[in-house]
Amino acid sequence: MFDKDEILKARILMVDDEVTNIAVLETVLKQAKYTSISSTTDSREAASLYQKLKPDLVLLDLRMPHVDGFEVIEQIKEIEADSYAPILVLTAESDPATRLKALQVGARDFLSKPLDLSEVLCRIRNILEVRLLNKRLEEQKDFVEQRVLERTDDLKQANLQLKKEIAERERSEKELQKVNQQLLHAEKLSALGQLAASIAHEFNNPLMGIRNTLEQVQQGTNMEESLAELVDISINESNRVMSLALQLKDFYRPSSGTLQPLNLHDAIEDMLRLKKNDFNRSNLNLTKYYSEPFPNVNVVEDQFKQVILNLLQNANEACPKGGELSIRTRVLNSTVEVEIGDNGQGIPQENMEKLFDPFFTTKAEVKGTGLGLSVSYGIIQRLGGNLSVQSTLGEGSKFTISLPIQMDRQKTS
Ligand SMILES: Nc1ncnc2c1ncn2[C@@H]1O[C@H](COP(=O)(O)OP(=O)(O)OP(=O)(O)O)[C@@H](O)[C@H]1O
Ligand SMILES: [Mg+2]
Repeated sequence: MFDKDEILKARILMVDDEVTNIAVLETVLKQAKYTSISSTTDSREAASLYQKLKPDLVLLDLRMPHVDGFEVIEQIKEIEADSYAPILVLTAESDPATRLKALQVGARDFLSKPLDLSEVLCRIRNILEVRLLNKRLEEQKDFVEQRVLERTDDLKQANLQLKKEIAERERSEKELQKVNQQLLHAEKLSALGQLAASIAHEFNNPLMGIRNTLEQVQQGTNMEESLAELVDISINESNRVMSLALQLKDFYRPSSGTLQPLNLHDAIEDMLRLKKNDFNRSNLNLTKYYSEPFPNVNVVEDQFKQVILNLLQNANEACPKGGELSIRTRVLNSTVEVEIGDNGQGIPQENMEKLFDPFFTTKAEVKGTGLGLSVSYGIIQRLGGNLSVQSTLGEGSKFTISLPIQMDRQKTS
């Protein structure tokens, strides 16, 4: 189990107030080839020596001045706590009660003086074997504990990694879902747009005919005043329906124009000039946060202006009791953003999905056609950009146009 050397190298501490006892034992131990022997005749030093030398065996006398053997056993047990305390008691007292007490307080073995030296060596060897075995066990326990700690740590790391991957996957899935929804929406808009444009086209010609006829009637006859008024109304209404039809056509195929680098801030300022009076009337306060310097961006000027006008108009209408509007521009890596915000009514969650659908409106029939956002959306998409919205009901809305800084397309139709 242990080789001889290992046992002979074990550290032995002798505690006995009799110098001669120590001398005899030391001689015997040395003859037996033990190499690490220490001793003290002052039992008060026993505990500190034990702590310092960490012996594998203590040969302990019981009857000693100042601190007796029982107390030394207690001190060593305290130092060792739960571990094995290797104590062999050697004493002249041979009554069974003393032996029992020594064993009860924690001595491992007991030998009575006068000593049979070969028996002493046998007992020493036995206790040392147990002690060394115990040490080995402790080392193995430490090793296993260390391994368990390491494995626990590995598992924690793996768990963390797994959580990260799950979060990453969820994020990608959400992203994919969003892209799918956008695609679906774009397809829906395109289909609706085609339908709307063809209906508008069919409507436009007969409407033009009706209006022209009405104009001729108006010019050619001397009508009663009330009839003339009715014809007037009819002409106005025809004009309104025709302009609606025109908008519908634009929705699918906005006015053709050339893509050219435009200073967006200037274009926004043009539209703000148009809206200045409206804003004053509606008690709206506008704050601008223009990012400078700002690159020119390739857009079709009138289309871009139309989008800005639609968004400003919506913001205005969302604040019937007045409020705060803001225009903010940003330059990101490869895109620019124009954000138009208001602190108006906000948009209920259930309307968010339908916002960009043609004809979706919450406004009174004469006021809103529900085409502003869908037309704007189509224009920005065709420019390779995106139009998005963030809104909190009762707090306001933010519409963000994002456009690529470089466009390879030269023309849009
Ligand atoms: N800034 C905003 N705040 C709150 N709701 C908004 C805002 N912008 C748009 N909306 C909602 O989106 C709907 C659709 O807007 P859109 O501009 O397409 O049509 P509209 O303003 O109703 O009519 P129009 O064709 O005259 O523009 C609006 O009726 C309104 O309910
Ligand atoms: Mg609108």
